[in-house]
Amino acid sequence: MADVVSLDQILDGWIDILQSRFKIEIAHDRQAAFFKAINQLGSSIGESEEGFLYRAQNRLLTQHDWAEIIHLATNHETRFYRYKAIIDLVSKYSREFARPRVLSVGCSTGEEPYTFAVEMNEKGFSNFQVHGIDISAPCISHARTGVYKQNPAIPDRYVSRNAAGQMKFYDWLKDFVSFEEHNVLSDQPIDFAQPTTIVTQNMLIYYRRESRIRILENLALMLPKGGYLITGPAEAEEAHWKPNYLERLTVASASVFRKSE
Ligand SMILES: C[S@@+](CC[C@H](N)C(=O)[O-])C[C@H]1O[C@@H](n2cnc3c(N)ncnc32)[C@H](O)[C@@H]1O
Repeated sequence: MADVVSLDQILDGWIDILQSRFKIEIAHDRQAAFFKAINQLGSSIGESEEGFLYRAQNRLLTQHDWAEIIHLATNHETRFYRYKAIIDLVSKYSREFARPRVLSVGCSTGEEPYTFAVEMNEKGFSNFQVHGIDISAPCISHARTGVYKQNPAIPDRYVSRNAAGQMKFYDWLKDFVSFEEHNVLSDQPIDFAQPTTIVTQNMLIYYRRESRIRILENLALMLPKGGYLITGPAEAEEAHWKPNYLERLTVASASVFRKSE
């Protein structure tokens, strides 16, 4: 490391490396918080700001380090029953399939996939699967435990509750739900064939237009004929995405596309 570099250059270095290696974009308003967190992570392993970036650029970090870095670079806010309109659409469209398969893209710590599973049980479905994917390894590890802070939105028959204020989904409910660490911008296939409904909400908003379109195109390719792609209201419109092999449905509460028969 011959040259001394400024903190701005170090931040630019991280932004560049996350973009070029993982296609992750860090929104401008999140860059300061990301930089603080990344430098704390570096100092926890005895590295200066510059030294930590040097190790990243020169492939001297472990897979575990990278999982932490990617986790810090992305926003993971989520909650159970976050947006009722999309939850209702998932149940409604699932009625069209003998074995509904719901894919939650950018599922964070799992509240969204478990919500779909609980709601589909409430609506009487018994033969379905929900799969959640997220780029963050810590989020997927948490999701797989099925343990959360107690939440009154989840009825007692799905969880056991303890005195420490936690709830844990019963194994029978967990059997409906699977999780996978996956970067939806990568070329790797998702380990969940033929999803009948794909939901991605509050994830596209962190990406620029070209990346949003690439994600939407990748997801559309996974759908079987008659399958649905749902995003939060305006998340697809903002990207001005106009797929020519999906039909756009008129739904006020979300952006909904259906693969033509
Ligand atoms: C704000 S959370 C939204 C969680 C949930 N969908 C909801 O609406 O409550 C966004 C999630 O997308 C994930 N994410 C961001 N980029 C991703 C990518 N390229 N591939 C997979 N997941 C990604 C983040 O790790 C984060 O957990």
